[in-house]
Amino acid sequence: MLYLIGLGLSYKSDITVRGLEIVKKCSRVYLEHYTSILMAASKEELEEFYGNKVILADRELVESGAEEILKNSETEDVAFLVVGDPFGATTHTDLVLRAKQSNIPVEIVHNASVMNAVGACGLQLYNFGQTISMVFFTDNWRPDSWYGKIMENRRIGLHTLVLLDIKVKEQSIENMARGRLIYEPPRYMSISQCCEQLLEIEESRGTKAYTPDTPVVAISRLGSAGQSFKSGTIQELSEYDAGEPLHSLVILGRQCHELELEYLLEFCDNKEKFRNDILQDQEYFKPAPWVPPTEEEDED
Ligand SMILES: C[S@@+](CC[C@H](N)C(=O)[O-])C[C@H]1O[C@@H](n2cnc3c(N)ncnc32)[C@H](O)[C@@H]1O
Repeated sequence: MLYLIGLGLSYKSDITVRGLEIVKKCSRVYLEHYTSILMAASKEELEEFYGNKVILADRELVESGAEEILKNSETEDVAFLVVGDPFGATTHTDLVLRAKQSNIPVEIVHNASVMNAVGACGLQLYNFGQTISMVFFTDNWRPDSWYGKIMENRRIGLHTLVLLDIKVKEQSIENMARGRLIYEPPRYMSISQCCEQLLEIEESRGTKAYTPDTPVVAISRLGSAGQSFKSGTIQELSEYDAGEPLHSLVILGRQCHELELEYLLEFCDNKEKFRNDILQDQEYFKPAPWVPPTEEEDED
């Protein structure tokens, strides 16, 4: 059996009881180690807690070495651990499909994900639209395909969850070209860098999916002892130091309920200004008021 097991957001003990029971009996345990990190536990601490060896699975192993992960899992139990939920954000459907093609039974053990725990900032999960990923810009690669998704979300009033790039085990282009297995130190995108990239793309596109004054909420280290939230405009948070990773950002949509607003006011520097920023921003995409059709239009 192949088990995909969610580890939750932060502590080694965030794994579910069922997840832990399974991990203890597996003959191989892989920890997916490139889309997220477990903030409050090292590999060694996990091994001690599980009483089992943990193999770190980088992008290369998961994307090109699936056979190795699946090896013998028709007859043995193999666990593939994912920080958060196995299907939160970046999905591992490819691994599941490959297992099914090889007639290997698969079982999923779910857990909390950034995709639902983000509700801790006070915004209603029901009011979120498409999630986007913000990658690190380089000198000659500044992808902005996410821009249209923010526009679509904001047109219908929905909030946008922005997941921030992390590079846990990446090679420089030079090392990759020369086939040298030398890896760069881990990098995690900061809230300020994300906001700067948002501002840069809005300036070049100029179609106002958002503006420098659009309200956002920074969500840092969700589910850990150091969890924190900060609300302000994109411009304000482009200068905010959110501290240690992990970070996410939410761009507010027009449908900001009074209760959501009340919650967010706790996290801003100037309540009156933030309330005003939200009211101003909500005006922008407000649909024209509905006018009942006249009798003549009805006959058409
Ligand atoms: C590609 S997603 C993987 C999500 C994970 N599988 C889950 O279900 O939570 C990783 C990104 O989600 C965000 N993220 C994950 N955990 C977080 C946390 N505890 N606090 C803030 N952001 C988090 C960060 O932007 C991070 O780079």
